[in-house]
Amino acid sequence: MAEVVIVENAEAAGALVAAEIVELIDGRPDAVLGLATGSTPLPVYKALREKLTGRDVSQVRGFALDEYVGIDPAHPESYRSVITREVVEPLGLDPRRIHVPNGAQDTIQHAGDDYETAIEAAGGVDLQILGIGTDGHIGFNEPGSSFASRTRVKTLTVQTREDNARFFDSIDDVPKHCITQGLGTILRARHLVLLAFGEGKAQAVADAVEGPLSAILPGSAIQLHPHATVVVDEAAASRLRLSDYYRYTYANKPSWQGI
Ligand code: GLP
Repeated sequence: MAEVVIVENAEAAGALVAAEIVELIDGRPDAVLGLATGSTPLPVYKALREKLTGRDVSQVRGFALDEYVGIDPAHPESYRSVITREVVEPLGLDPRRIHVPNGAQDTIQHAGDDYETAIEAAGGVDLQILGIGTDGHIGFNEPGSSFASRTRVKTLTVQTREDNARFFDSIDDVPKHCITQGLGTILRARHLVLLAFGEGKAQAVADAVEGPLSAILPGSAIQLHPHATVVVDEAAASRLRLSDYYRYTYANKPSWQGI
């Protein structure tokens, strides 16, 4: 099962995960990071900004999880723009080494395969950061996604379009389709780190970590991964049945193990 780490708040989660990423980069300067959008990973990027100051990050590589189909890459809410603004620029990464799925309409038929090829050519993702939607989606793998899925086009649910409408002028401007790494793609990363904060994510977290493996809850795919870490605050942990055990386990963990 995934290792669950319950922390005091999002800031503590950011510091914990950033420390793991810094250790990874120290050991492997061209580490391949799996980058996620959404508000959840922001504390990680913020902590990384401080911890990476003075380090050479010119070789670091990255692959984003997903992108909207048909959105202008220059649109401020394209995931290309978000990753550039939240990760590439503040951390001083080389933009040529940071990949985002190509949502352009004219090449969309082979964009998924192209992205899989690029991930493989990079030797795979070392550490994949994940958030989780209230309906249990990871990346843009909506409920019903195959555990074996690869990067491909998906139709966004009405719920996800409504959730994301706040970033656009109106819901009509939210694209109906996306291109996302599949659950099978995500499961090939060497270390998964899923973060979640707040009561609104509590049920999705409990279902992903302790519920049955099911396509209806795409986040449950993490149970199939040999090295998955779930970092949550108290509110997001509130529906976990084994929370006392997770606390006990983490408190007694040998420090050499990391997360
Ligand atoms: C979007 C992203 C997901 C993210 C989710 C939750 O759907 N594609 O990668 O996990 O939103 O967003 P937030 O972290 O803002 O709650």
